[in-house]
Amino acid sequence: CNIPLRERNIVLIGFMGVGKTTIGQLVAKKLYRDFIDVDQEIEKIHNMSIPTIFQQLGEEYFRKVEKEFIVDICTNTRLKIISLGGGAYLQEEVRNVCLSKCIVFFLDLSWDSWKDRIPLIVNSRPLLKNKTLEEIEELFFKRRDAYSLHNSRVSTNDLDPEAVADQIVKSVK
Ligand code: S3P
Repeated sequence: CNIPLRERNIVLIGFMGVGKTTIGQLVAKKLYRDFIDVDQEIEKIHNMSIPTIFQQLGEEYFRKVEKEFIVDICTNTRLKIISLGGGAYLQEEVRNVCLSKCIVFFLDLSWDSWKDRIPLIVNSRPLLKNKTLEEIEELFFKRRDAYSLHNSRVSTNDLDPEAVADQIVKSVK
């Protein structure tokens, strides 16, 4: 792909609630770049929350809008920091456009650390609602196959968001 490495968008992927938005905002600030949170943009466009979009328009519709939005920003912008929703990267077209035009960072948190966050995030994540811990665990590990297709992995265990952001900044400078 002909976009120089230094100009490529930086894309953050990883499971729900690992801190993609928080860390993305910090990276953007540190690099003086714009930040785009895909879920927040979809919420703005629809003037609805993600749970309401899932409930009223359905997951299939959400996935289509999510994919089209990501393909558009990855193809038509540079120098942005973009955080994806946790399920976006399961779509092949999303992986292809991210890997060919951007630099993809996988924010990796262990199951043991992550599961303590469930109570904090469950209400705003339709895919976690009404699931047993076993079902959530299965989803967590099933998704790792897709997330393993990245350019760089950052372990977020024992690191605060600032330290994770610093690692990302260091590795693209
Ligand atoms: C989803 C993750 C959410 C949001 C939607 C679906 C998923 O984003 O896009 O609830 O399928 O993993 P976060 O990763 O920001 O929680």
